[in-house]
Amino acid sequence: MQLTGKSAIVTGASRGIGSAIAIDLAARGALVVVNYNSSAASAQEVVATITSAGGKAIAIKGDVSKLDEANALVKAAIDAYGRLDILVNNAGTTRDTLLMTMKEDDWNTVMDTDLKSVFNCSKAAIRPMIRQRSGRIINISSVVGLSGQAGQSNYAAAKAGVIGFTKSLAREVGSRSITVNAVAPGFIPTALTNVLTNEQKEATMKMTPLGRFGKPEEVAYAVSFLASDEAAFITGVVLTVDGGLVMQ
Ligand SMILES: NC(=O)c1ccc[n+]([C@@H]2O[C@H](COP(=O)([O-])OP(=O)(O)OC[C@H]3O[C@@H](n4cnc5c(N)ncnc54)[C@H](OP(=O)(O)O)[C@@H]3O)[C@@H](O)[C@H]2O)c1
Repeated sequence: MQLTGKSAIVTGASRGIGSAIAIDLAARGALVVVNYNSSAASAQEVVATITSAGGKAIAIKGDVSKLDEANALVKAAIDAYGRLDILVNNAGTTRDTLLMTMKEDDWNTVMDTDLKSVFNCSKAAIRPMIRQRSGRIINISSVVGLSGQAGQSNYAAAKAGVIGFTKSLAREVGSRSITVNAVAPGFIPTALTNVLTNEQKEATMKMTPLGRFGKPEEVAYAVSFLASDEAAFITGVVLTVDGGLVMQ
C-alpha cells in the first residue's frame, strides 16, 4: 500500500500507537503532521525517526479537545502541505475508576479528549475534504467501546460514541468519496495501559485467542490500509485489531 504524496494528520502522535501510525504512514510516502499536546520532545523524536528514514514530517502542538486548537492544527497542516487527505483521530486518555468513585472531572476529561476531539478535528477537516471530493478519516476507538469494561464507564462511553460518530459521518460524506472508519484496538502495551495491574493484564491475555498482546505497529498497518486507495469502498466499519478478544 502506497500513500505517496498524501498529506496526513495523526493526533496524539508523540508516543504509543499514534507515533507508530505516523511512522508507518510516512514510510508509505505520506507527508505527516505529528500532533502532540504536551510532549514536544517526544514528538520531535518521532519527526526525526521519520526524516532519518527519508520521510517527511513536522510536529504541531495542539490540544485537540479544544475546537479552536483543532481548527488551527488543520489549517497548519494545509498551510504546510497544500491539502489534507488523511485525518487519524488517535489522541486519547483514561481516568479509570468505578462509577461510585468517578469524579465529574474524570468524566469530562475523557469525554473531551477521546470523543469531543474527534468532533473537533473532523469538523475542521471536513470542509477541505468535501472541496477536494476525497478524504480518509480514521478514528481510533477501542474494543472497550464494543464490550464495556468495569472501571471504564467514561472511556467506554467515549469510545462507543466514536463508533456512532464514525458511522453517522460515513453516511453524511460518502457521496463525496470521503470514507470514515474506526479501528478498535485490543490490549496494546503503551503508557496508557501501563497503569493496569499484572492481574488485569493476565486476565486480558487469557481472553485473547491469539494469546498475546498487540503491537502499536499492528494497529498502524490497519490504519494505513484504511487510508489507502485500496480501501476506497470501505466506509463506516469498525475494524478490531485485538487478537480476537472481541468478536463482533
Ligand atoms: N493502548 C491500548 O491498549 C489501546 C487500546 C484501545 C484503544 N487505544 C486508543 O489508542 C489511542 C492511543 O493510545 P496509546 O495507548 O498510544 O496512548 P498513549 O501512549 O498514552 O498516547 C496518547 C497520545 O495522545 C496525546 N494526547 C493526549 N491528550 C491530547 C490532547 N488533548 N491533544 C493532543 N494530543 C493529546 C498524547 O500526547 P501528549 O503527551 O503530547 O499530550 C500522546 O501522544 C487512544 O485513543 C487510546 O484510547 C489504546
